[in-house]
Amino acid sequence: MVIYMFYPISTLVCNFCIPLSCSVAFLLSVQSTVRCDPIPDGVLHMECHDRFFMIAIDLSFTGEDPYFEAVDETGVYTITEEYAAMCGYSVSSIPQTGYVELRASYFSCHTDNKDDKEFAFNFNLIATHKEKVATYALNNTCSPPLPWSAREVTCEANYMEVSVRSDISCPTGTKKDDWDAVVQTAYFAAVSDWQVVFQRAEQELMPMALSDARKQGYAFDLTDGRLVFRTPYGQPDSFSTTVNGVPVEVVHATLFSRQTWAVLMVDLVAACSMHEGSYDESGYMTWETPEVLHPLMSGLHETRINIGANGELVEQPVAEERGYMVEQYNSTVRISIPYNAEGGYRKSAVSGDLYEFYIFSLYLEQISVDEDDVDTRLRFHRVLTTPLLPCPVFTENRTVLEERTFTVYLGDVPADVELAAVRLNEHQYSLATNATNHSVTQVVHPNNTHGYTVTVPFDDPAVIKRFSKEDAAMQHMLDINYTLTVRPENEQFSHLVSVMALMDVSPPAFAAVCSESGISFKLDHRPSDYLWEIRIGLDPLTSELAAQHGYIMTNNSQSLLLDVPLFTNGYEYKDVTLKGFSGTFEILVRDRETSEVQSATVKTCPFSSTELIMCSTDGRMTVVADFSAAIPSGGVPARTNLVDKYCGPKEADSTRALFSFPLNSCGSTVKLGKEYVTYENEIFFSRKLRNLKNPSFSSSDISRVTVQCTYPLAGLYRLFSAYKFESDTAGVGRIVHSALSTEGPQSPTVKPTIALQTPVPVTSRNKRPGYRPPAQYIKVSSFLKRLQKKGENQSSQIKVNAGIF
Ligand SMILES: *[C@@H]1O[C@H](CO)[C@@H](O)[C@H](O)[C@H]1NC(C)=O
Ligand SMILES: *[C@@H]1O[C@H](CO)[C@@H](O)[C@H](O)[C@H]1NC(C)=O
Ligand SMILES: *[C@@H]1O[C@H](CO)[C@@H](O)[C@H](O)[C@H]1NC(C)=O
Ligand SMILES: *[C@@H]1O[C@H](CO)[C@@H](O)[C@H](O)[C@H]1NC(C)=O
Ligand SMILES: *[C@@H]1O[C@H](CO)[C@@H](O)[C@H](O)[C@H]1NC(C)=O
Ligand SMILES: *[C@@H]1O[C@H](CO)[C@@H](O)[C@H](O)[C@H]1NC(C)=O
Ligand SMILES: *[C@@H]1O[C@H](CO)[C@@H](O)[C@H](O)[C@H]1NC(C)=O
Ligand SMILES: *[C@@H]1O[C@H](CO)[C@@H](O)[C@H](O)[C@H]1NC(C)=O
Ligand SMILES: *[C@@H]1O[C@H](CO)[C@@H](O)[C@H](O)[C@H]1NC(C)=O
Repeated sequence: MVIYMFYPISTLVCNFCIPLSCSVAFLLSVQSTVRCDPIPDGVLHMECHDRFFMIAIDLSFTGEDPYFEAVDETGVYTITEEYAAMCGYSVSSIPQTGYVELRASYFSCHTDNKDDKEFAFNFNLIATHKEKVATYALNNTCSPPLPWSAREVTCEANYMEVSVRSDISCPTGTKKDDWDAVVQTAYFAAVSDWQVVFQRAEQELMPMALSDARKQGYAFDLTDGRLVFRTPYGQPDSFSTTVNGVPVEVVHATLFSRQTWAVLMVDLVAACSMHEGSYDESGYMTWETPEVLHPLMSGLHETRINIGANGELVEQPVAEERGYMVEQYNSTVRISIPYNAEGGYRKSAVSGDLYEFYIFSLYLEQISVDEDDVDTRLRFHRVLTTPLLPCPVFTENRTVLEERTFTVYLGDVPADVELAAVRLNEHQYSLATNATNHSVTQVVHPNNTHGYTVTVPFDDPAVIKRFSKEDAAMQHMLDINYTLTVRPENEQFSHLVSVMALMDVSPPAFAAVCSESGISFKLDHRPSDYLWEIRIGLDPLTSELAAQHGYIMTNNSQSLLLDVPLFTNGYEYKDVTLKGFSGTFEILVRDRETSEVQSATVKTCPFSSTELIMCSTDGRMTVVADFSAAIPSGGVPARTNLVDKYCGPKEADSTRALFSFPLNSCGSTVKLGKEYVTYENEIFFSRKLRNLKNPSFSSSDISRVTVQCTYPLAGLYRLFSAYKFESDTAGVGRIVHSALSTEGPQSPTVKPTIALQTPVPVTSRNKRPGYRPPAQYIKVSSFLKRLQKKGENQSSQIKVNAGIF
C-alpha cells in the first residue's frame, strides 16, 4: 500500500518548476520498424478503468512470449520487467484467462497527459506467429470519469505509486524530530537543484540528485496539478515492517530544494501491505491490510472499502452476492473471498493425482478522509491463490447385465482436462481411432464439468472371462485405466476402475459333423461343465450307455468325442427314398439342479444305404430291399410284392425296391409273445409274372425276403384298446433273404446283405459277448437286450391273422 505524504512547506512549493516532467529518456530502446498489421476482431480488448488503462490480448493470437513497447514522440521503449516497475506498467498473463494483460497507470512514463483529464496511450504489441515476429500498433485515449482525490495511492503488482494534488495544505501530526533532521540535511547540502533523501530508521540521510534517484529505479513527475512518485518493490531504500502483524513495505522519500531564502520540502511515504494471502479450511482466501499503514497516516478516519476482481470494483450487493467479505478488527482489514467465487479462475494441476487451484485477482479500494477533509484513495492489485486442492474424478458402474455390456461413467472431469486414452485390461486404445467394439462418448454438464461413458461388450476380446465356482457363474472382469490430460500443459494422470459382472454360464454346445457312417459330436470341456448333465433321450450319457448303444465315446481332460454310428439307438429317420434318407440325432443338456433341459444339439445328416428296414412308432414298416443277388435269374424289382399281392413297391430301381406300409396290412402276420409282438411280411420276387389263375408255379422261380418288426408289448399298451398303433419306441426290424421256401430262414441261399452294423450291446450280463445277430437290426433299444436274454423261450408265440386289427 502506498501512502503518500506530501508536506509542502508552503503552498508556493508547487508553483516552482520542479524538473520532474522531463521524460525518462535514458531507457530508449532499439528503434524497430512498426508495421501496422490489423488485429482480428475479438482478440484485442482495450478498456479505460478509473485509474489505469488496460489492454488484454488473446494468448492464442500472440503466440509465445509476447511483449509490449511504449511509444511516445521521443521514441519506442521496450517494457521489460524492470522498466515496467519503474514506469508504471504491469504486464501479466494468467493462462486461465487466456489473455496477456497490460495495465498502464495514467501517470506511466510514456502517456500523453492533458491536464490530468485526458490520457493518450501508444503501444506496440510484438507477437510471434509461426516464428515470424509481427508488430501491432495499439493506441487509445482515456478520460477517467472519476475525479482525482487529493491523494491517490496504487499498490500495483510490481510497484507502488503515489500522486498528490500540488495545492494540498499541510497536514498536522508531523513527527517533529524526523522533520528537523531532514531540514538539517537539506540545509547543509547546499544544493540549489531538487534533491531527494530516502529515510530509513536509524540510518544516515544521504541526499542524492533526482537523476541519480531515477537511475536507481525511482520515478518522479509533476503533472498539470499533481506530483507523482513511483517506486518498485524491494528497493534498497525501502524497509519492511509489520503493522498489527501484517507485513508492510515502506519507502519514505523527502524531496527538497534549498532556495536562497528557504528550504522547500515534499515528504512522500509509500507503504503497501505485503500480506501474501492465506487459505483456510473453510474454503476462503483471505488477505489483510492494516487500517493504518504508516504512523504518518494515523489521522485518517471514515475509512470505506470497496472490493472487486480483475481491476473492476463491484457494488456492495454484488460483492455480498458473490460471497466477498470485508471485516475490520484490531485495526486490520481482512478480506475473505470464497475459493471458487465469481471473478476468479480455476486451474487443474497434476501432482500424482488431479488437483485444482483457484486464482483471484483482488482489486481493493480504501477511501479515507483526514481531519482536514483531505481524501485519500488507496488501490490494491493483489493476486490470491489457493493451495492445491484435491479434485477427484469419480467413476460409476452403470452396467445393466441384460445388455451384456459394461457401461462405466467417469464424471467430474474439469473443463481443462480431457481423456487421452483408455486401457481396457491389457489393451491400450487411443481415442483418435474409432474402436469397433467398445465406445467412448463424452457428456458435457452445465456446471463446467464433463464426463465420459465407456461401453465395452462382455464378449469384447479385452474382457477377461473366468468361471467362478463360488458363484457358479462366469465372471466378466474389466479394469479400465483412463489416461487424462490437463490442458494446456499436457500433464497426464490416470484413474483406474475395476468392474465385474457375473453372468449365468451358457450350457455346453456340441459341434457336430456328418460322416458316411454316422454323426460325430465334439464338446470342449469348460470348468462349468459340472453344472450340466448330458442326455441321450431320457438316459444320461455315460460310458456304459455309450457301450450299450454302440456309440464310440472318447473323453479326456480337453474334450468329449461321441461318434454315433448310423442306425444306433436315438436316430430319427425321414424322407426315405431309394437314393437315401436323413438321419437326425439329438443330444440334450439338462441343468443338474433344476433338471430342466437347457439346450439341445440336433444334427441331421443325409445318408444312403443299400438295404434297410425301419419300424416306426406309429406302426409303419419301411423297407428297402436289395435283389441284386437274384437279378441274374431275371427278376425285376418293380414287380415285387408283399404277401398281399396288391401291395407293390412305392419305388424301385434296377436292383432295389422300397416298401412302406402299415404293419398290420398287406398280409402281415402277427406273432404275439409274452413280451413282444412281431409283425412279419414277405417280399416276393419272381422271374415270371405271378399267374393268379395258376398259383402252382414252380417255387424255384421265386425269391423271398422276410421282413419283420418287433415291438415290446410293454410299450404298446394301446395295442388292444384302440385302432391306432402307437409305440413308445421304434420297433426292431429284420430282413431275411432266402431263395427257397424249403430251406429254413436261418440258412438262406441268398446271403444276407450286411447293410447295417448294429451291434448288440456288450454288457457284463450278456452271456454271449461279441454276439452279432444273423440279420440286420435297425433300431436297437433297451428292450432288445431283454429280448435277447429271453429269446430262447418263444414257446408262447401265437400266430394271429394280421387282419384282426
Ligand atoms: C490509433 O489507431 C488507429 C487505428 O486503430 C489509427 O487510425 C490512428 O491513427 C492511431 N492514432 C495514433 C495517434 O496513432
Ligand atoms: C485482536 O487482538 C487481540 C489482542 O492482540 C487478540 O486477542 C484477538 O484474538 C485479536 N482478534 C482477532 C479477531 O484476531
Ligand atoms: C469415427 O466414427 C465417426 C462416426 O461413426 C466418424 O465420423 C469419424 O470420421 C470416424 N473417425 C475415424 C478416425 O475413423
Ligand atoms: C471386436 O470383437 C470381436 C469379437 O467379439 C473380435 O473378433 C474383434 O477382434 C474385436 N475387434 C477389436 C478391434 O478388438
Ligand atoms: C456436475 O453436474 C453433473 C450432472 O448434473 C453431476 O453429476 C456432478 O456431480 C456435478 N459436479 C459437480 C462438481 O458439481
Ligand atoms: C494406467 O496407465 C498409466 C499410463 O498408461 C500407467 O502409467 C499406469 O501404471 C497404469 N496404471 C495401472 C494400475 O495399470
Ligand atoms: C457393477 O454393476 C453390475 C450390474 O449392475 C453388478 O453386477 C456389479 O456387481 C457392479 N459392481 C462392480 C464392482 O462391478
Ligand atoms: C468326461 O471327463 C470329465 C473329466 O475329464 C468328467 O468330468 C466328465 O464327467 C466326463 N464325461 C462323461 C460324459 O463321462
Ligand atoms: C419258458 O417258458 C416255460 C413255460 O412257459 C417256463 O416254465 C420257463 O420258466 C420259461 N423260461 C424263461 C427263461 O422265462
